[in-house]
Amino acid sequence: MEIFKEIAPLKAFLKEKATSAVGLVPTMGALHAGHLSLIEASKKENTLTVCSVFVNPAQFNNPLDLEKYPRTWEPDCRLLANAGCDVVFAPEVSTMYEQESIVTFDFGTLDKILEGQFRPGHFSGVALVVSKLFHIVNPTTAYFGQKDFQQFKIIEKLVAELKFNLTLKRMPIIREADGLAMSSRNRRLNEAERVHAALLYRSLCEAKKLLLRGEKIENVKEVVHKNFDALAHLKLEYFEWADTENLMPANSVSANTVLLIAAYVGEVRLIDNLLMHAN
Ligand code: PAJ
Repeated sequence: MEIFKEIAPLKAFLKEKATSAVGLVPTMGALHAGHLSLIEASKKENTLTVCSVFVNPAQFNNPLDLEKYPRTWEPDCRLLANAGCDVVFAPEVSTMYEQESIVTFDFGTLDKILEGQFRPGHFSGVALVVSKLFHIVNPTTAYFGQKDFQQFKIIEKLVAELKFNLTLKRMPIIREADGLAMSSRNRRLNEAERVHAALLYRSLCEAKKLLLRGEKIENVKEVVHKNFDALAHLKLEYFEWADTENLMPANSVSANTVLLIAAYVGEVRLIDNLLMHAN
């Protein structure tokens, strides 16, 4: 496995070796089985798989979240090598941002709702770093997780608007045994919080079941809010349902609805989602 910290040597390497399909898996490290499922998908479909490991300051609206974001470089490298990743790109902040960036992205309503409401500027930072990575690696296909459903929609828009010549793939959410969506942030949970964190997925499943049974959306929302109110150190930020195409609030629930949730478990903010027509 080749490891690059600088852009020019990576580009030179790719120019020589990347003669056919290249898969890119952008990550912020602290890798888990969710990330590795993206590597696996890329390996199946490409001759060369590049994984980027970069904690992108531009997408953190909360300085404490950036400071506390887990950084586990050595285990990450071992996991990537075992997974058969070909290239790791792990730049320093100064390499990706030579000077403070003045470029911002505005996605209209899409980056103002749901996560955007609670994390102003977050998706602009994501779009900025992902654009840079696309330019540097020039992948055939880039792999992202459904776990960050709104992020995927933003990146779809980015690719369409800026005419990036690549295919995007959205991969399913990998979960722990109790249903908790795998996330780098789960490492910050203490034992009790880790147990309670499963409430996000449990609430999504309960909501889906009630909706499929014909329960009114308002009543379902109340059930989910009550679940969270019962636990002192859990704080629900939102539980919403939206159209999978444009993420606009859905008037009624259909096969094209996605249920989305965000909550604090102690100090750690977690998100999850569930498609009405699938897992
Ligand atoms: P990060 O949170 O490290 O996630 C990297 C990729 O892994 C994302 O596409 C995310 O959706 C996917 N992923 C995370 N948890 C997953 C799970 N449980 N199952 C399947 N896929 C999962 O998302 C980011 O980093 C950053 O915003 C990034 C796109 C790298 C830009 O900085």
